[in-house]
Amino acid sequence: MQADIEMVKALLDGGRKVVVLTGAGVSAESGVPTFRGNDGLWKSHRPEDLARPDAFAMNPELVWEFYNWRRELIGKCEPNPAHQALAEMERHIPNFLLITQNVDGLHAQAGSRKLIEMHGSLWQVRCTSCSHSREDRAELPAMPECPDCGHLLRPGVVWFGEPLIPGVLKVAIAQISSAEVFISVGTSNMVQPAASFYQLAKDHGAVTVEVNLEPTSNTGFMDFALHGKAGDILPELVTGLSK
Ligand code: OAD
Repeated sequence: MQADIEMVKALLDGGRKVVVLTGAGVSAESGVPTFRGNDGLWKSHRPEDLARPDAFAMNPELVWEFYNWRRELIGKCEPNPAHQALAEMERHIPNFLLITQNVDGLHAQAGSRKLIEMHGSLWQVRCTSCSHSREDRAELPAMPECPDCGHLLRPGVVWFGEPLIPGVLKVAIAQISSAEVFISVGTSNMVQPAASFYQLAKDHGAVTVEVNLEPTSNTGFMDFALHGKAGDILPELVTGLSK
């Protein structure tokens, strides 16, 4: 794997346009549970069964309990060396974009600024009825109400079966289509559209790299597959990068 790491480092050092896609695995070493790992269940519910509009419509109290638990847990987590390495990569590579599926806010906390949070943010809340939307890291009531119209608030994240935030997919597609290096980090590649981003990058001539703890269904299609902890591999990739 060391030879592959050196080859990827050379690609990163060549002034190429780089787009990185991250998933829950990048935050695992910060103590954030992944979605499909052994630690993924909450009170015997699968997150996929709660992170959906129909679950919220049927039992908003349960869904808010889940999100308030996640906000409390993740509020105590700090960025790890993988987040820090990606913030560092941005400082070295002028043509760089980070697209994350994560809603934990840890990339921004680590200093990433060229960042798209394609599934929204745990720290954003919005009204189910009016246009009220705000960033709020404070502890919320069990059923938080909109200060403007009194209707129920909901987490500002994208749920299964919902469209992405308007404009996000268009920007992501344009950026990935012009990338010369595409790196996916810590994602099981089970959720669309992110799972197909590598294909788009490849179709447009990018070199594709996977950094993940274990092989995924995309591994065989990647030019480089670096398997191990993101917190070990990403710092290695940025060490010694020129300005
Ligand atoms: P998953 O939980 O499906 O996948 C996490 C991946 O990270 C797995 O392949 C793990 O092997 C890997 N992993 C775990 N620890 C790691 C580490 N220390 N270093 C590197 N890799 C590690 O999470 P996502 O692919 O992000 O969507 O899930 C995608 C989307 O599905 C999420 O954004 C969420 C979810 O349900 C919504 O909520 C809409």
